[in-house]
Amino acid sequence: MEKWYGKFAVVTGASSGVGAVVTEKLARNGINVIGLARRSEVIEENIKKLGELSGKIYARKCDLTNLQSIKDAFKWIEDTFGTINIFLNNAGISVVNNMLEEGDEAENFVNHMISTNFIGVVHCTRKAVELMKKSDDPSIIVNINSTLGHQIPFMPVSLGVYPATKFGVRAFSECARQELLHSDNANIRITSISPGLIKTPMTAGGFFDQFPMLQPGDIAETLMYILSTPTSVNIQDIIMKPNGAVH
Ligand SMILES: NC(=O)c1ccc[n+]([C@@H]2O[C@H](COP(=O)([O-])OP(=O)(O)OC[C@H]3O[C@@H](n4cnc5c(N)ncnc54)[C@H](OP(=O)(O)O)[C@@H]3O)[C@@H](O)[C@H]2O)c1
Repeated sequence: MEKWYGKFAVVTGASSGVGAVVTEKLARNGINVIGLARRSEVIEENIKKLGELSGKIYARKCDLTNLQSIKDAFKWIEDTFGTINIFLNNAGISVVNNMLEEGDEAENFVNHMISTNFIGVVHCTRKAVELMKKSDDPSIIVNINSTLGHQIPFMPVSLGVYPATKFGVRAFSECARQELLHSDNANIRITSISPGLIKTPMTAGGFFDQFPMLQPGDIAETLMYILSTPTSVNIQDIIMKPNGAVH
């Protein structure tokens, strides 16, 4: 882990769930973290609660559904820190929803989810690569995907467009990896973690309590393992399910 000590990481969705726990874990390991979210004030509160850590955490407002907001956040990161070496595409939304329902509400929700979970990931990755190219040190992009980006079990409710966004991220990730190789940027690795259910605000509300769940800390541990691998290793994806999960 020493190789990452003092480097800068960016985590999207750092205000809640997996993103908040991963942000803390990275900072405890001496990595400086810029946490992005719409509710940057929640990240600020977490920073105060955590106190002094070996890495410093910074909060910055960013709405992934708004390209200008992404550009503004990355411009600020470049102006303030110069470069980054770790980027975590973590932010995402999932609410059980009927994507084929008629009307504006369903239409807007479908757009919002594709925009957050897929288009936002594409544009953030583009900006992250641009910043990583300013560094000669090895860099890594990690996507928090989902088991639903690999396989869709038959469910008693509609998962709407969520699995499609995660399948999209998987395809994007592999094509980005290939493009980095073609453009002589193999020192930027790209990898994914694909978890099953995780106990976070996303799964709160009762319905998911009947199923075994991972903890956000499990994802943070897996990220630490990925970061610990030598630059000669590019883990493409780690699929992790809660022990006892049926699917
Ligand atoms: N929980 C699970 O069971 C599960 C399973 C597999 C994969 N995942 C994936 O894990 C990742 C993290 O999910 P989680 O469970 O930790 O969810 P969460 O607790 O609901 O956190 C989601 C994060 O995404 C951010 N976000 C949402 N919309 C955004 C937007 N438009 N712009 C910027 N940030 C936005 C939220 O911040 P603000 O609201 O402050 O913007 C929040 O920090 C997601 O990609 C999710 O698909 C989750």
